[in-house]
Amino acid sequence: MSTLPVTSLLHSLQHQRKPLNHRATSLALIGLIVVSFYIFFVARPSLDLAPIALRTDALGHAGTHGSHPQDKDDPPPSSRLFRLPSNTQRKTVTVTNVNRPQVKLDESQELAAVAAFVAALPQNMIPRSIDPSKPIDPQLVLDFDTRSPRAADEVNRIVQHVWSRYPVMLFTKAHHAHSREIRRMISIMDLQPPPVTIEVDQREDADVLIPLLHRLTSSTDLPLMLIGGKPIGSMATIRELNESDELHKLITNAGAVIDGSKKKKGH
Ligand SMILES: *[C@@H]1O[C@H](CO)[C@@H](O)[C@H](O)[C@H]1NC(C)=O
Repeated sequence: MSTLPVTSLLHSLQHQRKPLNHRATSLALIGLIVVSFYIFFVARPSLDLAPIALRTDALGHAGTHGSHPQDKDDPPPSSRLFRLPSNTQRKTVTVTNVNRPQVKLDESQELAAVAAFVAALPQNMIPRSIDPSKPIDPQLVLDFDTRSPRAADEVNRIVQHVWSRYPVMLFTKAHHAHSREIRRMISIMDLQPPPVTIEVDQREDADVLIPLLHRLTSSTDLPLMLIGGKPIGSMATIRELNESDELHKLITNAGAVIDGSKKKKGH
């Protein structure tokens, strides 16, 4: 008999809790909506920093195996070169240089800028909205103020840095006989700095990057081999140069060391 009041009490509690639960749930939902609204519309500027942070270290993290541990206090000039200005710098830049025209790139500078951008980080993609038959907008691939009075000097520094850092650069297709042949030809040379290979057809931006490379190198086909930033020619030419040892000379002149790891050990 004594249990009866307890169960009826429980029953009445359960009946009361239902509307309470509903209220708590709707309050939580409203809270969630308010917080999401705040994050997306009010706190947005801080979120925008994320993609920039991804690109800041640029050349320092190239897709090569030749990376050296670098002093954090003193980044190498190349990684500074490609540093994207922070939001605050960008704002001052807009104020001071907005009326200046952008720096103009000739084709070899454009090729260097595109190569540096693509080699710097695997996630650096040429926007697919560009027209590859026209000169690329410099600010898409250069991480400095392209309207600055010093922009032309910066471009020249990038051209020098990119080809001394990547004396041999290959643009290849992943499952392709000629691409395999050229990769093998280069890999047995054991180059220092190591060659950079971009598997162009595996990239999201293949549709624009391939015609862009063809325009900038007057080539019509892949693989494309750049030695010191200069396109070497067709597969037949590359084979001939290899057989006659001219290829080795070109590569050495561009600053790469053949049998690099052996020579390192010998010293
Ligand atoms: C390149 O030339 C070397 C000789 O210098 C030869 O051994 C090698 O087979 C050649 N590679 C190709 C792919 O023709």
